[in-house]
Amino acid sequence: VKRPIGLFDSGLGGLSVLIEIRKLLPNESLLYVADSKYCPYGEKDEEFLRRRAGIIGEFLLEEGCKAIVVACNTATAASVGMMRQRFKVPVVAVEPAVKPAAARTRSGVVGVLATRTTLQSEAYAQLLIRHAAGIEVLGADCPDWVAAVERGETGGSAAESLVAERVQPLLARGADTLVLGCTHFPFLRSAIEAAAGAQVTVLDTGEAVARQLQRRLGDLHLIEDAANLPSHRFVTSAPSAHTESFLRAVWPDLADIETFPR
Ligand code: DGL
Repeated sequence: VKRPIGLFDSGLGGLSVLIEIRKLLPNESLLYVADSKYCPYGEKDEEFLRRRAGIIGEFLLEEGCKAIVVACNTATAASVGMMRQRFKVPVVAVEPAVKPAAARTRSGVVGVLATRTTLQSEAYAQLLIRHAAGIEVLGADCPDWVAAVERGETGGSAAESLVAERVQPLLARGADTLVLGCTHFPFLRSAIEAAAGAQVTVLDTGEAVARQLQRRLGDLHLIEDAANLPSHRFVTSAPSAHTESFLRAVWPDLADIETFPR
């Protein structure tokens, strides 16, 4: 089977999920769509995001994808129900790690770093009802973090003061566990850990998503073995020079950058 796994995000954030998938499933062909023309998703409404998810999902299936990974918490909150209904391949999605955070916190206070659209979504409200009973959950949206990652500004003192501004108030209110509820944020992990200190646990979901994908593909006997020479494709709705160096650093064996015209 040579069919690729399709992934998408508003931009480059979903590459944090792609990295984990490559570790676990190194023989798979991958087709990544960055919907950069509409980045950030975190400032768009759910109806718009469902429309984009529909258009991108259709493209991924036309390209023969055997599974779709929604590598974006915001797109998941808005559209995973629609996608599972409409697309007849496994749809694996990412949501903030509230459940593991609730199990882990000792102070009973958890900070969730995510986009505004995610934090305001019904899907997120349901997640809290299901998994955070008796826990105080502090949501913090961080719109400028997404833009910083898109520019590849993930380290150094600029990144550290950017994240400290958002992380400090959560610590001041007693948070001992921080959830990276946006796939862009794992790229800021060292800055976040520096701001939070060693006492604080920082959780993200990339590895869990990769394991879930591995399980789903395994059940369907769709995992490639080492005989497969994987192909890697990156398609973006807005090619831009200022994101390319970060893209190449994260995905060094990528060849062309293709344009997504829809
Ligand atoms: N990476 C996305 C997420 O996981 C959204 C970032 C954005 O475009 O606002 O929520």
